Amino acid sequence: MILSSKIRLRDKKLVDATDDYAWQTDPGLAQLDAVPPLTTTFPRYLSDYASGLRYPSSTRHPLAIETSDGKHIGNCVYYGVNETKGEAELGIMIGNRDYWDKGYGTDTVTTLVSYIFRQTNLNRIHLKTLDDNYRAQKCFKKGGFTPYRYVVRDGFRFVLMEIHRKQWQEQQAET
Ligand SMILES: CC(C)(COP(=O)(O)OP(=O)(O)OC[C@H]1O[C@@H](n2cnc3c(N)ncnc32)[C@H](O)[C@@H]1OP(=O)(O)O)[C@@H](O)C(=O)NCCC(=O)NCCS
Repeated sequence: MILSSKIRLRDKKLVDATDDYAWQTDPGLAQLDAVPPLTTTFPRYLSDYASGLRYPSSTRHPLAIETSDGKHIGNCVYYGVNETKGEAELGIMIGNRDYWDKGYGTDTVTTLVSYIFRQTNLNRIHLKTLDDNYRAQKCFKKGGFTPYRYVVRDGFRFVLMEIHRKQWQEQQAET
C-alpha cells in the first residue's frame, strides 16, 4: 500500500474487475485514451483478469487508486519497465467522473513517481497523452512532467511527456 494524504495506491484485487470492466467498456473513457472500448463479455473478462492476478508480470505494475476512505476511483500503472535503459512508462485513469478535477490525478501521479524513484533504480518515467486532453496534460505538468515531443500514431496526435530522476530530486528540494 502506497499512501498519500488524499489517496492510497494498492495492489489490484478480483473485486476491482466490476469497476474496471465498466470503465474499459465506457466509450467516453476509451476515447480519452485513444483506444476502442472493450467489447469482450464480462465472464471472459473476469477469467482473463483472474489469470492476470495469478501470474503478475515483472515489467508491468498495475495499482488501484482509492480515496483515503477506501473508495476505488481508478487505476494507475507503471509498465514497460526497462532495467537496461532505466525507464518505464506511466498510465492513469480515474474512471469515476465524480472524482475528476479534484486533485486526485495529480496526487496519484506525484505519489507514484515518488514511489518509483524511491523504490527502484529507474531514472526516467515517460508517458503519452492525446494532444487535446488538456485536463490530463495539466495533471501531468502539476505532477512534474515536461512535454518533449509530439507524435502522430494511428491518426491521433499525442504529446510525449517525461520526468527524470534529477528533475524529481530538484522538485523535492524545492518543496
Ligand atoms: C486525466 C486525469 C488522470 C486527471 O486527473 P484529475 O484528478 O481529474 O486531475 P486534477 O484535478 O489533478 O488536475 C486537472 C487539472 O486540469 C484542469 N482542467 C480540467 N479541464 C481542463 C481543460 N479543458 N483545459 C485546461 N485545464 C483543465 C483542472 O482544473 C485541474 O487544474 P487545477 O487543479 O489547477 O484546477 C483524470 O481526469 C482521468 O483519468 N480522466 C479520464 C481518462 C483520461 O483522460 N485518461 C488520459 C490519461 S493519459
